[in-house]
Amino acid sequence: MTTSFTISARAEQHANLRPLSILRDLPAVADLIEMCFSSTMDNEGKRYVQDMRRAGNDNSFLRWANRAAESTSLPLTGYIWEDNGKIIGNASLVPFRNNKQRVYLIANVAVHPDYRRQGIARALTERAIKHAHEKKINDIWLHVREDNNGAIELYSQLGFVERARRTAWQAATDSRAPILQTDIVLTNRHPRDWQTQLNWLARLYPDLLAWHRNWAFDSLRPGFWNWLYLLFIDMNIRQWTAVRKDHMEAALSWIPNGRGESLFAAAGERSDPEALTALLLQARRDLAHLYPKIELEFPSSQFDGAIQSAGFRAMRTLIWMQATL
Ligand SMILES: CC(C)(COP(=O)(O)OP(=O)(O)OC[C@H]1O[C@@H](n2cnc3c(N)ncnc32)[C@H](O)[C@@H]1OP(=O)(O)O)[C@@H](O)C(=O)NCCC(=O)NCCS
Repeated sequence: MTTSFTISARAEQHANLRPLSILRDLPAVADLIEMCFSSTMDNEGKRYVQDMRRAGNDNSFLRWANRAAESTSLPLTGYIWEDNGKIIGNASLVPFRNNKQRVYLIANVAVHPDYRRQGIARALTERAIKHAHEKKINDIWLHVREDNNGAIELYSQLGFVERARRTAWQAATDSRAPILQTDIVLTNRHPRDWQTQLNWLARLYPDLLAWHRNWAFDSLRPGFWNWLYLLFIDMNIRQWTAVRKDHMEAALSWIPNGRGESLFAAAGERSDPEALTALLLQARRDLAHLYPKIELEFPSSQFDGAIQSAGFRAMRTLIWMQATL
């Protein structure tokens, strides 16, 4: 669907609105983001703000970032709103690539509580959209928590449409996590199940959202050559399959990315939820020596009970909204 935008005069001309200067704004933007998101910020968010602050004080990073802003998936491009020399509003633009297609994620939209409901977030978001337009990037996304009605209203007014709703689940790993008493057997994956696993993955991690995924389904493909390739690039992928009477019910993959939050589950619409529970419990046990916590990002309201039964807690549910210029 194509959405038409009318960029308001505010976004074009307002004297208080200017591009982010990486060289001097990052610490103040980090302070603003920390204040505006404090009630919902998890550890990842806190780390993100710390990184931003550290980056803002690191001269060699800043010199590099100043050149690389449009090509790395970091929030190095954006717009800020200033009042008497103080930064009180921000909208970041994070570039991504989906094959050859370029995509922008608008992130960190934040306005100081004393300045809200004056149209500042709208003007910043409109300016960010205009920036994408100027760069000939027509595919713009943003993530918003499903309980953030004010922001959802703002983005809907600007033409963004919900495309997905996904929950981030987290559990502590535990070598003594219980073993589910069930007739489902956990086993190594049989190559003949690959096509089914692939179909399930494609439904649960749809192509439309692939710009945000830093791995390809192919890296889970069975077979010697893929195994050799993964060995060569030192990628220690783990996979588990849940089977009942030779019939695969669900599969779980762990793709290391240095943060321990990379479980990908595959299950069919009619799969037994117990299969997923058993697999997730197995992952909590098997990965205990590697990471204290593991995360699974999954379409919301699908297999919720199964995931909870494996000791996972919902951290946040995000609506993925898209605007196509
Ligand atoms: C969400 C946020 C950025 C909005 O900033 P803002 O400058 O107050 O927003 P604007 O004044 O541009 O609002 C534009 C429109 O969005 C809607 N809107 C914004 N905030 C709203 C709220 N709290 N409740 C209901 N509608 C709201 C309204 O339709 C508003 O128009 P109106 O004031 O004419 O009714 C700000 O509240 C904030 O920083 N919140 C904390 C951080 C956050 O949640 N960011 C969004 C992350 S996705």
